[in-house]
This record gives sequence, structure tokens and C-alpha cells, in this order.
Amino acid sequence: MVIKPRLKGGLALTNHPIGAKEFVKRQIDYVKSQDKYEGPKKVLIIGSSSGYGLATRISLAFGAGAETIGVAFEKGVEGKRVGSAGWWNTIAFNEAAEKEGLVSKNFIGDAFSMEMKDDVIKFIKEEFGGKIDLLIYSLASAVRTDPIDGVTYRSALKSTTKDITGPTINFEKEVMEETTMGVATPDEIRSTVKVMGGEDWKLWIEALDKGGVLSEGFKTVAYSYLGPKVTYGIYKEGTIGAAKRDLEHTSDVLNDFLKEKYNGEAYVSLSKALMTKASAVIPIFPLYAALLYKVMKEKGIHEGTIEQKHRLLTQMVYGNNPVIDEERRLRPDNWEMREDVQAEVEALWDKVTPENFKEISDYAGAREEFMQLNGFDFDNVDYDADVDLDELAKLKP
Ligand code: NAI
Ligand code: NA
Repeated sequence: MVIKPRLKGGLALTNHPIGAKEFVKRQIDYVKSQDKYEGPKKVLIIGSSSGYGLATRISLAFGAGAETIGVAFEKGVEGKRVGSAGWWNTIAFNEAAEKEGLVSKNFIGDAFSMEMKDDVIKFIKEEFGGKIDLLIYSLASAVRTDPIDGVTYRSALKSTTKDITGPTINFEKEVMEETTMGVATPDEIRSTVKVMGGEDWKLWIEALDKGGVLSEGFKTVAYSYLGPKVTYGIYKEGTIGAAKRDLEHTSDVLNDFLKEKYNGEAYVSLSKALMTKASAVIPIFPLYAALLYKVMKEKGIHEGTIEQKHRLLTQMVYGNNPVIDEERRLRPDNWEMREDVQAEVEALWDKVTPENFKEISDYAGAREEFMQLNGFDFDNVDYDADVDLDELAKLKP
């Protein structure tokens, strides 16, 4: 079967397993080109199969020699359907890790369930040396079934103030178009907090603590985003912003608990805007990202997911140059948020039109990044070659 890209707005309907291998390889190559670092030895990553969670796993394994457990929600081959990009990323990661003698174990399923927590804890106890040093919380999800009340909550990407209309990029049609983000009901805000807030992170820490699998000095970091003024309406003041504030509050609660019991730490880290499966579907965000890339690349300070996470880990979480704000948040988004960067992005934002957006933004770069998340647009992958799905179907993460 020859696999071609098919898009629907900001969603990729297909992905390329061979391209996924290249996607993972390039991130590994980056980490290997950098100095090794002293980091954690045993790590659990929730949301390990794509975006920031995958990059974190790659940095920790190939940069610090960490053994990793990944939890992700992904699908394998079903009939003529190729499976999800995160499925192939995980298989590619495993293959590369195994070659270097790095232990990597995966749990594919629902991280929000108690069953998943129990399975992971059992594995840590019986086969992973009994304790973990670090938990990275990098989930992006639209639904969560609360394991305690059994109710399924759906997150909404909406405003909490007023209707927000603004331009975005449609990668399917390759046009800039207006999108409107409606106002959330109180119920939609509450549901989004249920899905993307800190409740599940806290349940993980409580379960791991009860299971006795946290080491002395244990750390945990959850990923969040704040963003600049131009995206406040859709992000900071949106439903997702409400959820992220809940996550920040949870980090303080967890930090107190972990400090007391393990001499440990809990942080939220605010990352840079990047194209991922999760961010590509946020209204307005892709255009902001394309303008931001233009400015950051010109200034020589652009980072992809791997550079961003490698800097967070080597400089901040396991280094001596943490950038922390007055709200105790780690700030690897500090280059994105620089005043000169934002002033130039704002100037471009005022000038951008459906006619000029491909020239004045880094449209090509943002689109390439989006395609590469799904294994496409690598110059050294032959996309006309036949992919043997039956063979691939035998592989499991
Ligand atoms: P992503 O979509 O690439 O990754 C999400 C991960 O969560 C995947 O591994 C997926 O399998 C996993 N997942 C989703 N539902 C699950 C479930 N029920 N059980 C187990 N695993 C599940 O997204 P991305 O962008 O890497 O997002 C991760 C975190 O980083 C989010 O908290 C996001 O807000 C944050 N972030 C993203 C930024 C961006 O620009 N993309 C910027 C700053 C923060
Ligand atoms: Na992730």
C-alpha cells in the first residue's frame, strides 16, 4: 500500500510509519549531538507517544541514559487503516532504545483509568526496580472518564469571555481563514478543567505514593502553555487556560506533599508554542505559530519540540540555570515571550492577510512541521514505495 497524506483542517487522517521512524531518528540524532547529562534513571511519561512527551522521553533516554515507561492512547493497524502516528513513533522509539540497551516499556490505553495506574505500579514494583525518579505529565486529550464518579467529561476549546473571531491557517486547504471561537457555558468550563486540569495528575501521584514506588528526591513536571497577548482570548482566557490554572494549583499542592515526604518537587513547565497533534486544532494558534517561527528563526532562537525539552531538562530540571517565575513555574517559553520577539510578532499580526500570509509568516516551516508529525515531508523517505501493512501489523509498541 502506498500511503499519501490526507488532511481535514488541522487533523491528519493518515500517517506514514516509515516517516515516523525518521521523525524519531532526527530527534535522537539531535540529542546525541549534544553533551550527555546526569538525570533521572527511572522515568514514567504520561503522554509519551508524540509531541512534547515523546521529545522528553528521547532526551531522557538518549541524553541521560534513563529507563522509561511510556503511557499513551494510540491505535495499531486495523484492516486498511494504518494506525496512529503515536503508535509508530513508539515502535520507532523502542527499536532505537533497544539497540542501545535502554529499557523502554509501553502501556497503550487510558491513562485516566485506575486500572492503568494499577498496571503501571505493578510493573514498576515487579520489573522496573521498584521506584521511579521522575514523572512527566504530558497529556492532551478531549475526553476523560472520571474513575471515581464514572462520568465522561468532554473538553471544549472555547472562550470564557466573549466570541473571539480571528484568522487561522487551514493546512488542508492551505488558506488563511477566519475562525470564531464561541463562549463556553459554565458546564463546558468545568468539563474542560476535569479533562485538562490537574485532577488526574494528582491521582497518579497519590496512587504511586500509595504503591510505594516513589524514590527519595522524586520530581514531577506537568506541561502547560500560557502564550502572549495575541492568543489570550483563545488560550489564557479560554477554557483551556482555566484548566491550565487548575494544573498550576495542583503543582503547588503536590509540591508541598512531595517536599515533606520525599524531599521531592512538583512543577508546571510553560513550553513554547509548537505544531503538535493537539495544538494544530486550536483556532488561531497555527497562524500565531507560523508568525512566531518566522521571527524566532530570523533571530536564531527557534526551537523544535526536541530542542525545547532538551533545554528544559538539561538547563532547568536537572541543570543549574532554571528560569522560574514568581508563580514557581518553569519557563522554557522565555525566548518566545521575549519583548522583542512579541513586538515583531504583533507587527506581523497586524499586517497579515489571506493574500500575504505565505510570504510574511513561516508558513512553509509550520506546515512542514505539521506534516512531519505525521511522518510526511521528509526528503529522505520514499513516499511512492509500497508499505507492507501486514508486516507492520506484527509490530507492537
Ligand atoms: P500531543 O497530542 O502530541 O500528545 C498528547 C499525548 O497524550 C499523546 O502521547 C497521546 O497518546 C496521549 N494521550 C491522550 N489521551 C490519552 C489518554 N486518555 N490516555 C493515555 N494517553 C493519552 O500533544 P502535545 O502538544 O505534546 O501536548 C502535551 C502537553 O504539552 C499538553 O499539556 C499541552 O498543553 C502542552 N503544551 C503544548 C504546546 C504546543 O504548542 N503544542 C505548548 C505548551 C504546552
Ligand atoms: Na505529548
